[in-house]
Amino acid sequence: MAARMDVLLGAQWGDEGKGKVVDVIAPDYQVIARFQGGPNAGHTLLFEGRKHVLHTIPSGVFREGTINLVGNGVVIDPIIFLKEVKGLEAAGVDVRKALLISRRAHLIVPSHRALDAASEAEKGRAKIGSTLKGIGPTYMDKTGRNGLRVGDLERSDLMDRYNALVRKHERLLGMHDHVFDRREAEAEWLDAVQELRRMLLVDSEHYLDQVLRDGKRVLAEGAQGTLLDIDFGTYPFVTSSNTISAGASTGLGVAPNRIGRITGIFKAYCTRVGSGPFPTELDDATGEHLRQAGHEFGSTTGRARRCGWLDLPALHYAVMINGITDLAMMKADVLNGMDTVRICTGYRVNGQVTDRMPYDITSDVEPIYEELEGWGELHHEAPLPASLERYMARIEQAVGVPITLVSLGPDRAQTVLRQAATVR
Ligand code: GDP
Ligand code: IMO
Ligand code: MG
Repeated sequence: MAARMDVLLGAQWGDEGKGKVVDVIAPDYQVIARFQGGPNAGHTLLFEGRKHVLHTIPSGVFREGTINLVGNGVVIDPIIFLKEVKGLEAAGVDVRKALLISRRAHLIVPSHRALDAASEAEKGRAKIGSTLKGIGPTYMDKTGRNGLRVGDLERSDLMDRYNALVRKHERLLGMHDHVFDRREAEAEWLDAVQELRRMLLVDSEHYLDQVLRDGKRVLAEGAQGTLLDIDFGTYPFVTSSNTISAGASTGLGVAPNRIGRITGIFKAYCTRVGSGPFPTELDDATGEHLRQAGHEFGSTTGRARRCGWLDLPALHYAVMINGITDLAMMKADVLNGMDTVRICTGYRVNGQVTDRMPYDITSDVEPIYEELEGWGELHHEAPLPASLERYMARIEQAVGVPITLVSLGPDRAQTVLRQAATVR
């Protein structure tokens, strides 16, 4: 019987712990497929005392027998991609044999990165806080119909296409007064694309169609998070792709009616890296405590992440936009030892109370908090404390879907699968 494709994605501002959960549940799937984003992502996996950070390669790569697919919605920087492949090979993972790349995926060229830097410099204080990996300019060339795709590597006129694209970028960079030395990164990029061309390039929409018809299980892995979505995030402080579940359809060519379960990953609190509104942000000792206890420093850029309390209106919005069927709550251990924990249940906007995510949260949005009892140490082999169960029941009641997985530490083993009775 034909199978459905499940989706796993971030329900906040990214870095929720998607990589860890994909690695934990990957043995249940034959294919793990990334559907959007690019090397702006940093997905961390920890097992057997070793930590791995993946940027473009799906997080099923450490599970023997799992196929990992980079979908058409992803943007690939060949230089970073190759470094990632070689890093995994050095760690003893025979990655190339189980790694498929969509011919429709777009390529990041060095001048995309230069354009990203020029755009951010021009914005000054209003900058997005981009990871500067060239994500925005590459998606702009995709929608502007100028982009280079992985499939172009197999064409004889590749260099003509590449040169035309770079000439266009040079003209744009001239307008930004940005000095760009084309030769600097070009040789490395050209070497990297030669190697990329020899990898397993596929028409991934047809591949996935067949895999699902054969009854095999596919998990679509998202990058970033719902509040960074180009349409539904805190625009303009967002990334340039659809990070939501609909993005799994367009980013893989799998029709919406073939999607099964949709798992939303969230932290027991909130973080954000880069600029933009964040109603529950804590600029105090508690925020600093969360940053230190949670090691909240970016996996890709090393930047300190902004920290704050869990935001239920935002989580509820993520449930609605994505059609989330299951939630996974991460980093409950980071709140260990607090007498009380807070949870934002609504906002006061211009004197009016609402539990809805407003169109514009850049203006005065004051969070309304509820205080709940904290908990002590957590252990994945012991029952969860009653106060943590109450915390989760409050979340489930507010957003209407069950928390089916709880993470109590970064390691693969520090995970509790939960039969959530509260909502179902
Ligand atoms: P992703 O981008 O969504 O995959 O998340 P990141 O890897 O960027 O960030 C999540 C961070 O939290 C990583 O450093 C993980 O190792 C770590 N992590 C994941 N789950 C837990 C957890 O339950 N507890 C703690 N303390 N750390 C966790
Ligand atoms: P993962 O997949 C957290 C943020 C950047 C910036 C904005 C735009 O690890 O969760 P971009 O580089 O796309 O132009 O940056 O989005 N951002 C992320 N924040 N996790 C990520 O990915 C992110 N990828 C981009 O900090 O604010
Ligand atoms: Mg990350």
